[in-house]
Amino acid sequence: MYQGSCSSRVLSSFVQVKMSLTGRTALVTGFGGGMGSAIALSLAEAGCRIVGTDRSVSDTVKQNMEKIKEISGQDALFFECDLLNRESIDHLCSTIASKVPSGIDILVNNAGCFERCTMDEKTPESWDKELAINLTAPFLLSKNFVISMKKKGWGRIINMSSVVGLLSYPLTIGYCASKTGLVGLTKAIAAEMAPHGVTCNAICPYFVDTPIIQPVLDALKRETGASREESMENIRNTYPTKKFTTTKQIGDYVVFLCSPAADNMTGLATPCDGGYSIV
Ligand SMILES: NC(=O)c1ccc[n+]([C@@H]2O[C@H](COP(=O)([O-])OP(=O)(O)OC[C@H]3O[C@@H](n4cnc5c(N)ncnc54)[C@H](O)[C@@H]3O)[C@@H](O)[C@H]2O)c1
Repeated sequence: MYQGSCSSRVLSSFVQVKMSLTGRTALVTGFGGGMGSAIALSLAEAGCRIVGTDRSVSDTVKQNMEKIKEISGQDALFFECDLLNRESIDHLCSTIASKVPSGIDILVNNAGCFERCTMDEKTPESWDKELAINLTAPFLLSKNFVISMKKKGWGRIINMSSVVGLLSYPLTIGYCASKTGLVGLTKAIAAEMAPHGVTCNAICPYFVDTPIIQPVLDALKRETGASREESMENIRNTYPTKKFTTTKQIGDYVVFLCSPAADNMTGLATPCDGGYSIV
């Protein structure tokens, strides 16, 4: 009797959490990337309507649209946008205003770029690009979509920073500056929006196996001769947990940040790094 009522309570709270985002609409940038795919699928599983954006319609984008339809029964929307280009961002915002009149409830600023190089090698153009995609685009999108979130008295902004947004790391000059800036942006938005029911949090992963890390693995191969497998093993061993965070775990953490359980959590910059940042 006791066991039965306990497990049914657990089951009902699980269903509640899983379905807690029904009726919400989420915009996910970097929808065709490793994290963006997983975040969009986790949000769709939780009941969200998904609006994806990326530079182009890749095979991954098409597969994500199909999976989202299977998972939720709802068609996802997808709009191309180059986050390097302000006109393209303005166009995305106006397209969403006309195609999604109910507005965006959850904004996931996930898209990002990374160049591994020394300060000597870093060009001003590459610096501008990293800052524009990793920091300015999240600011511009937040500024646009927070207007309707404030009117509704509910909104969630989630910014994909990095463990490099919390700690320094060599050969990441523009990335470190932009991801640290993104943590600052997160806290400033959180403070300003706290009275309006809008939370803003950042996620700070260490290495996650997605396409963005391939240039690092290529560079390690050139510099040390290590194969992909060897480098991944070496990186895995720098985690206290000796485990990589998965894209699915990141996606599910985004769902948690949007759930009622996280209603009073704002301005966080959470390391998702197997304890890397605490040792
Ligand atoms: N994978 C990791 O180890 C790791 C660790 C920490 C933080 N991150 C961050 O996670 C986020 C997602 O990266 P990922 O790991 O999924 O890598 P990814 O390369 O799979 O995805 C990056 C996405 O950003 C998009 N993007 C890049 N430039 C763009 C532009 N100009 N306009 C529009 N979209 C653009 C790409 O098209 C891609 O979809 C990034 O912000 C990245 O910095 C990743």
